[in-house]
Amino acid sequence: MHKPIMVKEISSFLNKGKELSILDCTFGGGGHTISFLDLGHRVTAIDEDLNAQEIAKDIRKQFNKFNFFKMNFKDLEQIEENYLKNKYDFILLDLGFSSNQLEDAQIGISFKADSKLNMNYLNSDFTAYDIVNNYPEEELSRVFADYGEIKQSLKLAKFIVRTRQDKSINTNFELIEVLRGSGVNFRSKKIHFATQAFQALRIECNKELENLNIFLEKVYSHLNKDGILAIISFHSLEDRIVKNYFRSNSFKKDKFKNQSNWGFEILTKRPITPNQIEVKDNPRSRSSKLRVGRFIN
Ligand SMILES: C[S@@+](CC[C@H](N)C(=O)[O-])C[C@H]1O[C@@H](n2cnc3c(N)ncnc32)[C@H](O)[C@@H]1O
Repeated sequence: MHKPIMVKEISSFLNKGKELSILDCTFGGGGHTISFLDLGHRVTAIDEDLNAQEIAKDIRKQFNKFNFFKMNFKDLEQIEENYLKNKYDFILLDLGFSSNQLEDAQIGISFKADSKLNMNYLNSDFTAYDIVNNYPEEELSRVFADYGEIKQSLKLAKFIVRTRQDKSINTNFELIEVLRGSGVNFRSKKIHFATQAFQALRIECNKELENLNIFLEKVYSHLNKDGILAIISFHSLEDRIVKNYFRSNSFKKDKFKNQSNWGFEILTKRPITPNQIEVKDNPRSRSSKLRVGRFIN
């Protein structure tokens, strides 16, 4: 069961005493959506995941101010909701995958279970298997360098290409053995040595950063005046993109940094992180960072 992160912190940015139209771009297990509906707000939610769609059907039975669309958040302009004209008072992006997806052996995000090499949690058939077994050496090296920040990415890519000539790499545990045999120094004293390589493959096959960048280019045109954009990220690559987005589109001292007629008043100078009680109760929350801006135009 997925536990929603920083619910209290997020709701502190909701305008009290007014019904808001909220877009939850990453519905997941519906935790944040339910917290908004319980406060009486109207929620439109999207997610690519089929299980999320099933959970949404149940929520729809209990709340009538709720709508769900199975789609990618990078296509948010395609939400077919005439009532709100696709403009919202509050937009939430809680990036990455849910605990439900992490525990799903068919998806196989975790290196702790021996799953078929997949890692795609967005219901697409582009998988880690395709990357590991079919990408040319330079592309593999780019993925490990850019998304796993692995220093010896070329050495790793060369080893994988050599290994797969004899036999394809089919499962998570086979991949772990290849990583172990590669002789690459993963410099991972505090984490499992496969963490960065798994992260890199997951980011690539779900197009995590590409989707985020496309979303950010468009999101401002879906916010009402004074609307709030709240984004929770889980790794430094995502957080850097979000931080730079808010900075380069900031509104400060009556000036729009991007030279346009819109921007964001940054409401979180430093990102908000979960408190110790939450981290203890939900260890998955420990790497999360929340950044929030108010849309000005
Ligand atoms: C961290 S979970 C969200 C959990 C949710 N806030 C809750 O309280 O249950 C992230 C969700 O976003 C979805 N997701 C990730 N990237 C997506 C994308 N580009 N388009 C649509 N959904 C996406 C995943 O399928 C997953 O269900």
